[in-house]
Amino acid sequence: MKLATVSLAALTAVGLASADCSYVAGNYYCSNTNAIVYSNVGYSGSYKDVTSMDESSCICNQASTSFSGSLAPLNEELSVHFRGPIKLSQFGVYYPNAGTSLKKRDVADCAPVSHRHKRDVVVEWVEVTSTVFVDSNGNPVTSAAADMTSSYTKVNTIISSAQNTSPAQQNVDTAATSSSISTAVGSSSQSSTSSSAVGQSSTSSSAAAQSSSSSSTSSSAWTRRSYFTPGSTTNCTFMNHQGGVKGSGVWSSCFGNSISYAAADGITGASSAEALGDVTILSGNEFMIFSGEECSGNDCGYYRDGIPAYHGFGGGDKIFVFEFTMPSDTSGSASNQDMPAIWLLNAKIPRTLQYGDSSCSCWSTGCGEFDLFEILSVGSDKLISHIHDGQGNDGTSTGGGGTQDYFTRPTSGTLKAAVIFNSSDQTAHIVEVSDDFAESLSADTVDSWLAKAGSAAALS
Ligand SMILES: *[C@@H]1O[C@H](CO)[C@@H](O)[C@H](O)[C@H]1NC(C)=O
Ligand SMILES: *[C@@H]1O[C@H](CO)[C@@H](O)[C@H](O)[C@H]1NC(C)=O
Repeated sequence: MKLATVSLAALTAVGLASADCSYVAGNYYCSNTNAIVYSNVGYSGSYKDVTSMDESSCICNQASTSFSGSLAPLNEELSVHFRGPIKLSQFGVYYPNAGTSLKKRDVADCAPVSHRHKRDVVVEWVEVTSTVFVDSNGNPVTSAAADMTSSYTKVNTIISSAQNTSPAQQNVDTAATSSSISTAVGSSSQSSTSSSAVGQSSTSSSAAAQSSSSSSTSSSAWTRRSYFTPGSTTNCTFMNHQGGVKGSGVWSSCFGNSISYAAADGITGASSAEALGDVTILSGNEFMIFSGEECSGNDCGYYRDGIPAYHGFGGGDKIFVFEFTMPSDTSGSASNQDMPAIWLLNAKIPRTLQYGDSSCSCWSTGCGEFDLFEILSVGSDKLISHIHDGQGNDGTSTGGGGTQDYFTRPTSGTLKAAVIFNSSDQTAHIVEVSDDFAESLSADTVDSWLAKAGSAAALS
């Protein structure tokens, strides 16, 4: 979330040069969508982990950590972040039941047939950015040409073979060939429902337990392990940045306020976990959700001394669900006025320093940020998505990719959406849905969610 989002989006757009996209306040916006599919997500690389935060010198030390695998580093523990104006009505995280097998399928099968071969080539250099739409010959086309009628957008992010290449080299190659195929097709859109609100928030979290007994029938393929509705949490901990203010977390002149438990209003701090209340968080305020499980020993890696430290949501197969409203709020003069957002961060980032010296978190070296729904300019009604990590530009946060297509901001009424991470085929789907977020999800339900976006590829 940060300014980097803005500049990357702008860079992308330059490549698009599309007459059918509109340029507003520094960003291009193309077509409305109801699903975004990131494919080829994950790479082998490294980022710099914080190993200490020295309060006497105000210096953070870091050490390189390497990772690899499907969805890496987004398969690491993630924390979930929200910026107002927003009212969160539901949040949940599902994991596959033991025994549920996620079928393997060749990654290439996910590509539209006509693009399959091309994509293998292209994908490497999507570097960044780009949502460049290409035709079957790999030539860039406008998103309009790609098919404006569709409700869905397909985005391929990079796979980094870039490790062997210098950044400069990558940039050259990227400029020349970058493209992420954006296919759109079908139109099975789905819309948001409604409900709205304005106000404030609050929480109480308890590491709740939820059983996941589970058998792998298709009637219960996924179990909800974390869940929130206003005033109630199961295995979720709400936090904000009031460290040292209200009884949890710390403040120091070097590093400022750490994270802290958030009070039920979402804005003030608390001495212990509280469930966010039935409130609307106004512009400029942020809160975040970790799981209800406290870090213990070294199982979260290094984190800032004195913080309430909790695990994020890890693993290569997980589904996040959200229901929210992002009402307009032009009151006050907070920074990020009327620019709501929901995004995921490598959970190590907030546990050290989310905002501040870049050497005090792993963010700038690419440990991962996934913007799910982000308003990029004041008062906009277009929610943009982008992955910021080092894929395609290892060791930085300027790799990754995104799209200039957007979800419509639910200023009144709610938007329900699922974010499905699939390690088998290296995809991450963001899909608008209408089903209930029940204690368990059947494979059929999840398949129907995937199908909304999958039809785009199949029809190409
Ligand atoms: C994960 O990917 C595999 C292989 O493409 C597919 O068979 C499976 O349905 C997917 N599952 C989910 C939940 O995305
Ligand atoms: C709580 O959430 C964490 C993170 O997703 C998970 O590892 C853990 O199993 C969950 N606890 C229960 C009791 O479901």
